[in-house]
Amino acid sequence: MSDNVIDVRGIVRNFKLGQEVVKVLKGIDLEIKRGDYVALMGPSGSGKSTLMNLLGCLDTPTSGSYKLNGTDVSSLSDDQLADIRNTEIGFVFQTFNLLPRTTALDNVALPMVYAGKSKKERNARATEVLESVGLGDRMDHQPNQLSGGQRQRVAVGRALVNNPSIILADEPTGNLDSKTGIEIMALFDKIHADGNTVILVTHEEEIAEHAHRVIRLRDGVIETDIRNKEWKE
Ligand SMILES: Nc1ncnc2c1ncn2[C@@H]1O[C@H](COP(=O)(O)OP(=O)(O)OP(=O)(O)O)[C@@H](O)[C@H]1O
Ligand SMILES: [Mg+2]
Repeated sequence: MSDNVIDVRGIVRNFKLGQEVVKVLKGIDLEIKRGDYVALMGPSGSGKSTLMNLLGCLDTPTSGSYKLNGTDVSSLSDDQLADIRNTEIGFVFQTFNLLPRTTALDNVALPMVYAGKSKKERNARATEVLESVGLGDRMDHQPNQLSGGQRQRVAVGRALVNNPSIILADEPTGNLDSKTGIEIMALFDKIHADGNTVILVTHEEEIAEHAHRVIRLRDGVIETDIRNKEWKE
């Protein structure tokens, strides 16, 4: 079997807007190996979030194929897709997207509810993950009782909790000051060093330097794809 966790061929994504068809992705080919650390860059409107949503199975392409871990995603039912989203993909958003009035522990445990894990298992694993993201002393805090950086740590913990195949992060430091952004990047570096596949969108070169491969989109196509570091297998 190929060691590509992501295998994208000729992906096109058009959106219908009234009578008009907006062509956003115009034929993307992309292979990403397990354990890689990729930064996705490009001007605003170039299609980065659209591509991330496809990779995260939050959206489906107009044409082209997407294999995740060798499985052709287009062949799956809605239930199977929801299952893959929950177990194979960890998504981190710029705006954290945590449940309000819900503790850090319960936010992190939530994906395990859908995965059918027992409460005991959920709490044990969520505790372990919160400790690993440096929030062992904030487990009972709700999002509004946490700083922005802490909220993003909770969101990263939630993304990791089911041991997904890929971690997708769309501008994870976009709403953080630069010092907090550096702390969150140290966390992504650690997650990558632990053997995870990480793909993140950023506008900032200093953030992209953490990655081992930088892909630049322009106007819906890959303009450049440059590896700047190797990683140990
Ligand atoms: N649902 C939609 N319907 C119509 N057009 C859309 C839709 N989603 C995205 N687009 C268009 O696709 C283009 C790319 O959007 P996308 O959000 O992928 O850009 P981006 O590269 O993530 O930009 P940014 O850096 O600003 O986040 C934009 O021109 C946008 O207007
Ligand atoms: Mg975007």
